[in-house]
Amino acid sequence: MRRTKISELLKAAETEKEVVVQGWVRTRRGNKQVSFIALNDGSTINNIQIVADNDKFDEALLKRITAGAALSVGGRTVASIGSGQAIEIQATSIEVLGDCDPEKYPLQPKKHSLEFLRENAHLRFRTNMFGAIMRVRHNMIFAVHKFFNERGFYNIHTPLITASDCEGAGEMFRVTTLDLENVPRNEEGKVDYAQDFFGRSTNLTVSGQLEGELAATALANIYTFGPTFRAENSNTSRHLAEFWMIEPEMAFFDLQDNMDLAEEFLKYLIRYALDNCMDDLKFLSARQQEEEKNKKAEERGMELIEKLQFVLANDFARVKYSEAIDILMNSKANKKGQFKYEVTGFGVDLQSEHERYLVEKHFKKPVILIDYPKEIKAFYMKLNDDNRTVRAMDVLFPGIGEIIGGSQREENYEKLVGRMKEMGVPYEEMSWYLDTRRFGSVPHSGFGLGFERLILFVTGMGNIRDVIPFPRTPKNAEF
Ligand code: 4AD
Ligand code: MG
Repeated sequence: MRRTKISELLKAAETEKEVVVQGWVRTRRGNKQVSFIALNDGSTINNIQIVADNDKFDEALLKRITAGAALSVGGRTVASIGSGQAIEIQATSIEVLGDCDPEKYPLQPKKHSLEFLRENAHLRFRTNMFGAIMRVRHNMIFAVHKFFNERGFYNIHTPLITASDCEGAGEMFRVTTLDLENVPRNEEGKVDYAQDFFGRSTNLTVSGQLEGELAATALANIYTFGPTFRAENSNTSRHLAEFWMIEPEMAFFDLQDNMDLAEEFLKYLIRYALDNCMDDLKFLSARQQEEEKNKKAEERGMELIEKLQFVLANDFARVKYSEAIDILMNSKANKKGQFKYEVTGFGVDLQSEHERYLVEKHFKKPVILIDYPKEIKAFYMKLNDDNRTVRAMDVLFPGIGEIIGGSQREENYEKLVGRMKEMGVPYEEMSWYLDTRRFGSVPHSGFGLGFERLILFVTGMGNIRDVIPFPRTPKNAEF
């Protein structure tokens, strides 16, 4: 008999059915006469309760039914009063597929700290919390593709190994096959990359945007969804060295269109989570409230599901960088020195504390900031007529800060080369990119959504290391 998924069984809630279920024991309790086994198979946050009359089974077998053990259980569904579900299974056969020694198993049937689970990242899939996060994550991946497919966007695979630095921040991981113990040198004494695998210096991509633009200036609407690598040494709860980014790029889109799409996209994803992940969201909401119960009322976040619905119900504020600076300069927090980084005027780069002030304290809803000073943004952004700001947009979310960064692109060849020269971008090596501006250039725009930041928001988790299966952060690549 094939196994029935626990999710399907609980949904149908039919009694008097012969079924086989397979999964892992979450808990086992009971008395001399009867055992109650909570079994989970990953298909849902909910467990099915197995009821076994002890006298029908060998004592030796029953002993092996411990938390973490893998079981195959045959039985009959019956109405349940005590399990929290409509049905449970009266077991007729139990096979232990895999034993789990309770003395040695690191996960105990109790609450573990997030740090402990990070140190045991290979086992944390087995916790309720991580299971819920992984199911939400999957649903969000699917919704990303669904959103773009429904709108006629093409998914483009951009290279992971590149020779360019899209963001110009120099935060790249080098890719090389050179012998680090014995690096070849050229006549000038510099590393001789001509002898390297690709015959030049290469790195892992920090963004698929530049290649995305090549595709968008032919296919019109494209998106990428790939791993992204940044060697920024920031040990924060918002940064990973390896994360996933979604980058749509649209020909004939100006900044307004770009903002509209970004807002529509985020709301679509959040609505999809509410429509398809409610059991997991309820669990995650309870987890968050438990975690925050010792915090002061004003430090507690909004309840998770309420927060998601709140984002859907409100238009994002659209604000110029210069207005944001005025708001921040005049804020009590700035005047009283409560920011770690004081806001001193036009030109300062906003820190996450400033972004969160704007969203959480001032506008009290998501904010799209536009028209940043050109000096603090990447070379490819379209210059405004004022010659000092660019058509950038950052979408800022409560509890997160920047969730999306994007812009209208500079489509004018001369202006773009001018910016590249000013910013020291090696334009001679990037004729492949500049060709888009030489041949049939069009106004176009795009943005990048940090996938893990989205998952942080949707799950209510506080640390980005807990929403990706295998986090890569400074000094950490164990699993
Ligand atoms: O703002 P960023 O650097 O923009 C770009 O890379 C553009 N090329 C996007 C585009 O216009 N096509 O990064 C975009 C988003 C950020 O808003 C943030 O959500 C996320 O990527 N991000 C990170 N997420 C996790 N860890 C990091 N180290 C991140 N750096 C950026
Ligand atoms: Mg950014």
